[in-house]
Amino acid sequence: MSLVSFRPLSPERIPDLLELHAANAASYSPGDRHRYFESLIAMEGLFLCLFVDDQLVAAGGLQKHEDYWWLHSLDVHPSRQRQGWGRRLIRELLAALSPGPAEITTIALNAASGAEDFYRRLGFVPYDPGDGSDVAHFCRHFTAAELKSF
Ligand SMILES: CC(C)(COP(=O)(O)OP(=O)(O)OC[C@H]1O[C@@H](n2cnc3c(N)ncnc32)[C@H](O)[C@@H]1OP(=O)(O)O)[C@@H](O)C(=O)NCCC(=O)NCCS
Repeated sequence: MSLVSFRPLSPERIPDLLELHAANAASYSPGDRHRYFESLIAMEGLFLCLFVDDQLVAAGGLQKHEDYWWLHSLDVHPSRQRQGWGRRLIRELLAALSPGPAEITTIALNAASGAEDFYRRLGFVPYDPGDGSDVAHFCRHFTAAELKSF
């Protein structure tokens, strides 16, 4: 049976993350990719790596903003896509938030091209941030109970 574990972002995970990220987005230079993950370590929020046995299968994070959380850097290894790992990782991230019982938590994101229907499937809806950009913005508002049962 496979062992699923969630591990936080730390410097020793960067080599695995570079490989995962490169598998989905070949156009970044290795140096830029490395700097990017280093910058995430310093960011306020939560970043999780989903391992199946000892293979990094998915990763992604939530960055804290004043009145919402930004979902970013979600990647599932191409050989593991459409097997529920993306949803599983988001579920773990949301369950780690601890709002007050009556609080509404907003999660917002930019959907990569091709990922829009994944977010729709997860209940996120498109919104227009009003900045004239043509990036696909999505958000969803969660009650405390919905965060725990996503
Ligand atoms: C987009 C991505 C994160 C989705 O993760 P995943 O593990 O493949 O998705 P899941 O298996 O958890 O899918 C959850 C649901 O969304 C659906 N879904 C997933 N990808 C989809 C797609 N591209 N189009 C339509 N539906 C999709 C699944 O069929 C599943 O539906 P279900 O509720 O009926 O079972 C993953 O494909 C990926 O890493 N893509 C490349 C990088 C990327 O685009 N990242 C997103 C950055 S914003």
